[in-house]
Amino acid sequence: MIPDEQQSYYTDVRQHHLEPLWAIPDWFLSVEPLPPYRPFQWHWRDVYPRLMAAAKHMVPGQGGSRRVLVYAHPDLKSTLGTTHTLNVAMQMILPGEEAPAYRHTPLAIRFIISGQGAMTTVNGERMAMESGDFLLTPRWAWHDHRHEGEGPMIWMDGLDIPLTRYVGAIFVEPYNQPMQTETVPFLQSEKLFGVAGLYPKALPDLHAANGTLMSYPWHQTRQALNAIRDTVPNPYEGAIVEYRNPLTGGPVLPTLGATMQALLPLEQTRRHRHTSSVAYYAYRGEGSLQIGQTWHDWVEGDVLVVPPWHWHAHRNRSHSDEALLFAISDEPMVAALGLYREEVDHD
Ligand SMILES: [Fe+2]
Repeated sequence: MIPDEQQSYYTDVRQHHLEPLWAIPDWFLSVEPLPPYRPFQWHWRDVYPRLMAAAKHMVPGQGGSRRVLVYAHPDLKSTLGTTHTLNVAMQMILPGEEAPAYRHTPLAIRFIISGQGAMTTVNGERMAMESGDFLLTPRWAWHDHRHEGEGPMIWMDGLDIPLTRYVGAIFVEPYNQPMQTETVPFLQSEKLFGVAGLYPKALPDLHAANGTLMSYPWHQTRQALNAIRDTVPNPYEGAIVEYRNPLTGGPVLPTLGATMQALLPLEQTRRHRHTSSVAYYAYRGEGSLQIGQTWHDWVEGDVLVVPPWHWHAHRNRSHSDEALLFAISDEPMVAALGLYREEVDHD
């Protein structure tokens, strides 16, 4: 074909909204994943004062339902995602406040950071919130929060809003009254489903609002971590436990997984990479997360993002204290699609 003819062919094809595959640059079918965002870190020293200052600007239930700062990655401005699939957000509620009941299709986890006396109710099931506790809000579940204790209550929310929007399935509905009434006895989910290996053979509907474990108290996570630390630490993560659904053994939620890991003083892990994206929340201690060639030093309260297929390793910087990292990831979604891959560094 002569050059002019060739050029007019391409112009004509594109005018009809077609793209010749042979002319598309490599990003379309790349040899390896090329995530469109960088590793990123939010420092607690930047977040905390702004979260506290939000109390002056917003009261839950008045001009908005939640006092939340969303961790919006600078490379993902169009979705306000923390990763391309997930959001991390920090929520704060003051004594006497109520965050009204509603439900939405994005699912959520809560990881409790500090404060005492707040409660979350999910589908009529009221749950306590203490530091280190892990709570679930499945898709389309009614939920509200109230604070009857003292001092500010802070927790981290993890949601799959970018993913739900990408699928085209965002729905939100307010409840028909400000707050739900409690329909099952307090701590019911933990009592029925919190003992490993022993579950109710029959569940009266009335008593099984959510039908599975909804709240994972810190003392149990601590116990599981201690056991793993003494027996089978993971060379890439240190001692790591994954929150799972006790009835299925699978992930707690279909798209979002969560882990807690402990690094011994000065422990350094080996590198690996995987096709899931991860957002770490530094719960205790001080450490460093290597992503690619860069070490990102973190202290308590920082949040760090590892995009898919980025080499990463962990280091505890303390000579004396354990470091604890909570993390959410989209691994269950990636795995369910048959797309989960992991590569480890043998050096
Ligand atoms: Fe990892």
